[in-house]
Amino acid sequence: ASLEAFIRTLPKAELHLHVEGTLEPELLFSLAKRNNVSTLPYADAAAAHAARASFSGLGDFLDKYYEGLSVLLKEQDYYDLCDAYMAHAASEGVVHAEIMFDPQAHLRRGIPFSTFFPGLQRAVADAPARHGLTACLLMCFMRDLGAESAAEVLQQAVPYKEHITGIGLDSAENGFPPHLFVDVFNKAAAMGLRRMAHAGEEGGAENICSALKDLQVDRIDHGVRCLDDPALVAHLEKCGTALTVCPLSNLCLQVYPGEIGEKLRSLLQDTKVRVTINSDDPAYFMHSESGGGNLLANYTYVTKVAGLDARQLAQLAVNSFEASFLDAAAKKART
Ligand code: ADE
Ligand code: ZN
Repeated sequence: ASLEAFIRTLPKAELHLHVEGTLEPELLFSLAKRNNVSTLPYADAAAAHAARASFSGLGDFLDKYYEGLSVLLKEQDYYDLCDAYMAHAASEGVVHAEIMFDPQAHLRRGIPFSTFFPGLQRAVADAPARHGLTACLLMCFMRDLGAESAAEVLQQAVPYKEHITGIGLDSAENGFPPHLFVDVFNKAAAMGLRRMAHAGEEGGAENICSALKDLQVDRIDHGVRCLDDPALVAHLEKCGTALTVCPLSNLCLQVYPGEIGEKLRSLLQDTKVRVTINSDDPAYFMHSESGGGNLLANYTYVTKVAGLDARQLAQLAVNSFEASFLDAAAKKART
C-alpha cells in the first residue's frame, strides 16, 4: 500500500493512451442508453467486463475495442469520454497526458471530424481548470486501412491542426510495415507535427528499426521487442529515443507469452533504453495479476516484476516528462 501511495504522489506524464481504450463498461452502457443504441453484444456492464477478462492476442482485443465505439455518436459523448479519463488520471498523480485518438474508427461509422474532434478538444481545453492537468491530442492512423486512407485523414485534419500535437500508427502491426507510410509521415513532418508509431508489439524488432529510419519517429510506442535485436538495443541506448511501454497491455495481449515479466525486468535493469510506463487501453487491461488497468496499476506491476526501487520509479516519472511533447520550460519545471 505504501508503494502505491509513493507512486501516486509522483507527478507523472502519460504518453501512450488511446481515448477509445478508456471506455469503461459503465460509461459504455450509460452512453448506449443516452443515445438509444441497442446493438451492443452484451446484456449489461458486467457482461462487457467479462468479455474483457482475456484476449488471445492483439486482433481479438481490437475486435472488441472497435465494437464498443458504436455508442459514441455526439460531440458531448467524446467530451465525456475524454473528461472521465482525465479525472481519473489526475487522481493517480498524472499531471500531463498525451491522448491518442483513432479518427478512422469514427469516420467509418459516419461520425465526422467536426463531431468527434471538438468534443475531445474541448475536454482537453477544460482539463487544467477541471482536473489540474495539461493534455494534448495525438492522431493515430489505423495501419490496416492503408496509406491512402491515412493521407485522406491527414487532409481532413488540416482545419484542426493547431490542436493536434502529433500523429501515430496503431491497430494491426503484422502485414503493414512502417515504410508504407513514408509519404504521410513526411507530409505530417512538413505540417510541424510530431511522429510516433506502434512498433515491436505484435510485430518484430525490424518494425522498430524501420519506424526510426524510414519514418523518423520521435518515440516508439511499445517497442518491447527491441530485446530480440541487441544492435537495436545499443542504437536506442545511444540515440535516446524513448519507448512508451505498456506493461499490462503486453501481459494481456500476450507479447512474450509467459515471459513478459522477465522481459520487462531485463529492459529496465539490463539496458539503458529510455523507458516510460503507460496504460494503453486502461478500461480493457484489468489483468487478475494487477486488479486494474490504469497507470498506477501499470507502475505497480512493473515495480514488482522488475524489482524497481524508489529511485528507479522516480526516474521513470522523470523519463515521462523528458519524452513528452511539452515545451522545454515545462519539461525543466518537472524534471
Ligand atoms: N489501438 C489501441 N490499442 C492498441 C494497441 N495496443 N496496439 C495497436 N493498436 C491499438
Ligand atoms: Zn497503443
